Amino acid sequence: MKASLKLRSQTSKSSLKLVAAYNSGKKIQIEVSDKSEGKELSSSKFVSEFKAKFGENLYVNTNEQRYLLVGLGDSKKIETEKFRRNIAKTIKSIKNEKVEVDFDGFSKKLGADKTLDIFLECLYLCDYSFNKYKSKSSDKKSEYLFNSKKITKAKFDKSNDKNQSISSSVNICRDYVNETPNHLNSEVYAASIEKDIKKNLKGKRVKVKILKKSEIKKEKMDLFLSVNAGSAYEPRLVHLTYTPKKSNKNTKHIALVGKGITFDTGGYSLKPSGSMMGMKFDMGGSATLYGAFRAAVLQESKNKITCILAMTDNAVNSKATMPDSIVKGRNGKTVEILNTDAEGRLILADALDYACDLKPDAIIDAATLTGACLVAFGTEVCAILGNDQKLVDSIMKSSKNVNEYLWQLPIIDEYRNHMKSKIADLKNIGKARMAGTATAAAFLENFIKNDISWAHLDIAGVCDSQSHLPYCPASGASGLMVRTVSDYLMN
Ligand code: BES
Ligand code: MN
Ligand code: ZN
Repeated sequence: MKASLKLRSQTSKSSLKLVAAYNSGKKIQIEVSDKSEGKELSSSKFVSEFKAKFGENLYVNTNEQRYLLVGLGDSKKIETEKFRRNIAKTIKSIKNEKVEVDFDGFSKKLGADKTLDIFLECLYLCDYSFNKYKSKSSDKKSEYLFNSKKITKAKFDKSNDKNQSISSSVNICRDYVNETPNHLNSEVYAASIEKDIKKNLKGKRVKVKILKKSEIKKEKMDLFLSVNAGSAYEPRLVHLTYTPKKSNKNTKHIALVGKGITFDTGGYSLKPSGSMMGMKFDMGGSATLYGAFRAAVLQESKNKITCILAMTDNAVNSKATMPDSIVKGRNGKTVEILNTDAEGRLILADALDYACDLKPDAIIDAATLTGACLVAFGTEVCAILGNDQKLVDSIMKSSKNVNEYLWQLPIIDEYRNHMKSKIADLKNIGKARMAGTATAAAFLENFIKNDISWAHLDIAGVCDSQSHLPYCPASGASGLMVRTVSDYLMN
C-alpha cells in the first residue's frame, strides 16, 4: 500500500475519489472540496436515495469522476473508534484503485492530525494477508493520495512514519503468529528475529543476545528446560536490549517477557485434537512483545527497553517431562508439575526471574496463557493482572489511547494458596476450572523478586482474531495489544 500527500502541481487523475458525507438531521452534506464537483454530486439522481448514515457508503459516477461517498452520520456524534472502524471497513472494500482522499471533509470532528493518523493506521493495518502458502495469490493493492489544505508535507511525513512503524510491527507480529509449526520452530524463530533486527532496526542501538541450550542450562533455567525436554529442537532465549540516544541514570528501564511456545501439544498431558488445533499461535505473547518493542525502537522511545523471548515447543517424546515431576526453577523455588499442559507459566517463571536480575523499573509479560481467559473474556478482551496498581493503570491508559480492550482481574491470597504444593514450594495448576487466568498469574508472581513492578497480559483470547474488527484480518492472527504495549513504551 502506498500513501502520499497530493501536491498542488499534481493533476493526475484518480480512479476513485473518497468523499465524506454527513447527515445532521434532515439535510445531507457532501464534503467535496471542489465546489463545481459538489454541485454535480448533489444533483446526481442516485444521491437522493442516500442518507449518509454512519456506515452507509455509496458509489456515484458523474461524467468526470467515480466517487465513493462515505456516510458518517451526524458529525457531532463521531467517536474515535467508531470512526476508525468505519474507515477500515471502507478501505477494505476498495481494491486495485488509485484513490484520492478528499481529506479535509473527514476531519470535521476529530481534527486534521488525529484523522490523518487514523487513516494511515487503517491503510497499513488493513494491508495484510497471510497468503504465502497459496500457490495463486491475488493481492490487489491500491494507492492513496491525500488532498488537503490542512495538512503540510512535514505533518504528513511525520504521521506516515509513525503509523508505518507501528503497523509494520503489528503485521510482523501477525506473520509470526500465523506461521506454521513445521516452518517456525524455536531455532528458526530466534534466527528470524535477529534477521529482522539486522535488516529493519539497523543503527537503532539494539543489542541482540541469543542464549542456546547450553547457556540456558548454565542459567539453571530448569523449568524452561523441562518444557523443552520432549522437543526435537533446542530452546532459545532471545534477549534484546534497546538503549535510547540520550540515556542517564533517570532513564526508565522496561523489560518485556514473552511466551514463545511455537506449538503446544500439551506434552504428556496431551491436548485432545480439537483443542490442539490452532496451538501454533502459542508463541503469540513473544510475537506481540517483539512487535511492540520494534515499534517503540523505530519511533526512538526515550526508555531503555529489554525484550526477553522464551522459545520452545511443548512436545512429547520419551524424554518429555512426566506429570508428577518436581523441578527447581532458576530462582530456587521447586514446582510440582502436575500438568505438562500448564507449560507457559513454567517457561515464563524462569524468564521472569532472569528479567528481574536486570533490575528494570517495570516488567510486562504477555502470553497465550490460559483457556480460562477465553471463557471469561471471549476473543474480544485481553486480561491484565499485576502486583502494582500504578503500572496496571498506566497500561490500561495506553489501551484506551489506542482503543484496544483490556480488563483487570485480581490476584488475591486465596488464589496464591491454590498454587501451593504439599510436597514442593508450588504446583503448576490450581483448582480445576476455577479462576484459571488469575491462579496462573498468582503462580507467576512467585518469580518476581525485589518488589519489581510487574504486569501480566493474558492474550489467549485476543491473539487469534476471529475478528469483529475491520482493521484485523477476518481470521488468523489479530496483532492486538501490539499497539497498546508500544504506546506504553513511548510514554
Ligand atoms: N496455550 C494454552 C492456553 C490456551 C488454551 C490458549 C486454549 C488459547 C486457547 C496453555 O498452555 C494451556 O494449555 N493452559 C491450560 C492450563 C491448565 C492445564 C491449568 C488451560 O488453559 O487449559
Ligand atoms: Mn499448554
Ligand atoms: Zn500453551
